Amino acid sequence: MKVYLDNAATTPMDPEVLDAMIPYMKENFGNPSSTHAFGRKTKTAIEKARKTIAGHLNCLPSELCFTSGGTEADNMALKCAVRDLGVKRIITAATEHKAVIESAELLKQRFGVEVEYVELDDTGRPSIQDLEARLQKDIPTIVSLMHANNEIGTKIDLHEFGSLCRKYDALFHSDTVQTMGHYTFDLSTLPIDFITCAGHKFHGPKGVGFLYVRKDVKLKSMIQGGGQERQMRGGTENLYGIIGLGKAFDLAYADLDGHIRHVQGLKDYMKEELLKCFPGIGFNGDTSAEGSLYTVLNVCLPETENNKMFLFSLDLKGIAVSGGSACNSGASKGSHVLTAIGSSASCTSVRFSFSRFTTKAEIDYTLAAVRELISSNVNA
Ligand SMILES: Cc1ncc(COP(=O)(O)O)c(C=O)c1O
Repeated sequence: MKVYLDNAATTPMDPEVLDAMIPYMKENFGNPSSTHAFGRKTKTAIEKARKTIAGHLNCLPSELCFTSGGTEADNMALKCAVRDLGVKRIITAATEHKAVIESAELLKQRFGVEVEYVELDDTGRPSIQDLEARLQKDIPTIVSLMHANNEIGTKIDLHEFGSLCRKYDALFHSDTVQTMGHYTFDLSTLPIDFITCAGHKFHGPKGVGFLYVRKDVKLKSMIQGGGQERQMRGGTENLYGIIGLGKAFDLAYADLDGHIRHVQGLKDYMKEELLKCFPGIGFNGDTSAEGSLYTVLNVCLPETENNKMFLFSLDLKGIAVSGGSACNSGASKGSHVLTAIGSSASCTSVRFSFSRFTTKAEIDYTLAAVRELISSNVNA
């Protein structure tokens, strides 16, 4: 049996998404900037996808700028805010994705932007009190705090943090890559300026996403060229990617409550069974239903010789999981997120991440493998 439990890294594409894309790889291939019928057809399809997505998020289609995914959208939000909006300070957190942290650090080195890291509790949740204390300093600021952490699943309340940013006149960006397609957003009431999306995190294609830019925030072009994306990003559009993204949105939100119930049920079941078979087990981040991603369970195993090989041993059994962020896999350095929340360096962390396609049979197979590895540990 092959079991894929690394859905926070990427998800399998929904076959219906692929079906929607194929005609745009075959007969509907016109360049959307061409003025003839081939071009008009694909331009119309892109605008239809934009409208579909805007409808799901309750924003204007013109507030969405398609990008190559989450990394580009995060880079664009921070770099354009500094270049075009006079931002002099970035307040972020040490648990953010590298797309945010490295962009902020680059802006500090190159342009002298101040970068501050907000205090975190031991589940990795930023302190709203610490943020408020920092916002009292009067300097043009953007706050960048992710909606949910990709490694440990801890989630923040965007309304709460966004309202605070509004109170102090700071711009607010949130990396919503792990929550887009998994939670509902009403951007007509959410006090936020920028959010980001990556299609491949919710059964859409890779290499496509967007940056939402609230309508009264005016950014200049990120990539110079043909003036696509309303002058914000030059370059021929990723036509079939955008079509797939629109379809992935429709499928994600067609029965969101059903998906949440199913996946949260699997996560709770896995957590309970792990605690039953291994009472000493710990978890990284918040694991409550209200405070964390229903798609992520990050388990902390005591370090033993066998546990050091845990990921590899699961892989040999056909089970794909991740230790920390997939973006870092292959790197010899430990996870910056686990380091930031003070997780013990002597524990082996395993991130199980689920999707609406994950089955209970797959969880049972994984639990059996985990029990076997842990008991071979105890007997070793
Ligand atoms: C929270 C978060 N932000 C950004 C990204 C980067 O997105 P992309 O892979 O589309 O560049 C990821 C992907 O791992 C992520 O989990």
